[in-house]
Amino acid sequence: MARGSIGASDKLRHFRVSAERPAATAIDIAARAIKSGGLVAFPTETVYGLGADAWSESAVDKIFRAKGRPATDPLIAHLADVAQLADLARDVPDSALELCRRFWPGALTLVLLKSARVPANLTAGLDTVALRMPDHAVAAALIEAAGIPIAAPSANRFSRPSPTTAQHVLDDLADDIDVLLDAGPTTIGLESTIISLVDDPPQLLRPGGVPLEALRRLIPDLRFEPRFLHDAEAAPAPGTLLKHYSPRAKLLLFQGADDAAVFAAMRAEIGGDRRVGLMLSDADAAAFADLDVEIERLGANAEQAALRLFAAMRALDRAGVDLILALAPEERGLGLAIRDRLLRAAEGSVIDV
Ligand code: TXA
Ligand code: MG
Repeated sequence: MARGSIGASDKLRHFRVSAERPAATAIDIAARAIKSGGLVAFPTETVYGLGADAWSESAVDKIFRAKGRPATDPLIAHLADVAQLADLARDVPDSALELCRRFWPGALTLVLLKSARVPANLTAGLDTVALRMPDHAVAAALIEAAGIPIAAPSANRFSRPSPTTAQHVLDDLADDIDVLLDAGPTTIGLESTIISLVDDPPQLLRPGGVPLEALRRLIPDLRFEPRFLHDAEAAPAPGTLLKHYSPRAKLLLFQGADDAAVFAAMRAEIGGDRRVGLMLSDADAAAFADLDVEIERLGANAEQAALRLFAAMRALDRAGVDLILALAPEERGLGLAIRDRLLRAAEGSVIDV
């Protein structure tokens, strides 16, 4: 069942598995790799994760080295059961349990006070830990079979767009992983929403797969203050780092009430020596059909755009464009998270037309 992937290292074992009913043999081999301190890339409903034994400082350290991730940026521990919360967190508020009941398994990560047992490098030395139970049969089977929480960031190299397919994982990390569980594309395409329950009132740290509106129904005073920073050292909260989710090409993000004016401003950037690529909804793409530019279509709605966003950034990089033009979506539902990722790729600035 294992097959050598093209361009992969000798040690990588690549298994194609069903997203609904993964074969026990593949899960077993992956779980053994985790238990012996190895790295396993696996699918979740949001993006692919790069997993290791969350209890092992040396296994966690391998994640940081493989990704080229600064030690100041903490990881999420993935659980298969709410009961595991008690092993990793302390003083868990009732609101956390309510959120788990409503949103787990799912694309919601909770930041809580950490237990003494959590290795320091997992949390980048913080007194808090980020926890999530993914809603994906492969992730659940892997965590269950390993019998331990699995530390996992997105399985991309640091500052590259997150991986939504196994090929994206191979493109970035083929030489560094022991096992790849390949269950096809992920179903949400953006990372989990992160909220801190250590802050009072609770704070949304990263918009993601669970919309802010859904969370506010349970936590009406949930705070959200978007912050974008250029300097990792100066970051007041992890994950607010600006240079994230970025294509190699420069990205310009446009917004404005008048479509015709916005399209005209975008057209003004096209031409000359630069190779330009566009990321647009199907409807907006029609307005540029006459031009000789690479266009990545993001579909007809926010759900489709979420699924295609990171793949589109990677595709435009592969096409060798120098400049990517995109439109900022409305800040509701998944639009908030899409806008956040585009804004980071645009290094924090929006062009208001
Ligand atoms: O959907 C997801 O969340 C994916 C899948 C694999 O689960 N994971 C993911 O992990 O996106 P990563 O490492 O790429 O992003 C995790 C974010 C980072 O920005 C990190 O700074 C933040 O979570 N984080 C982790 N622990 C934290 C903590 N104790 N306090 C605040 N932020 C934290
Ligand atoms: Mg990431």
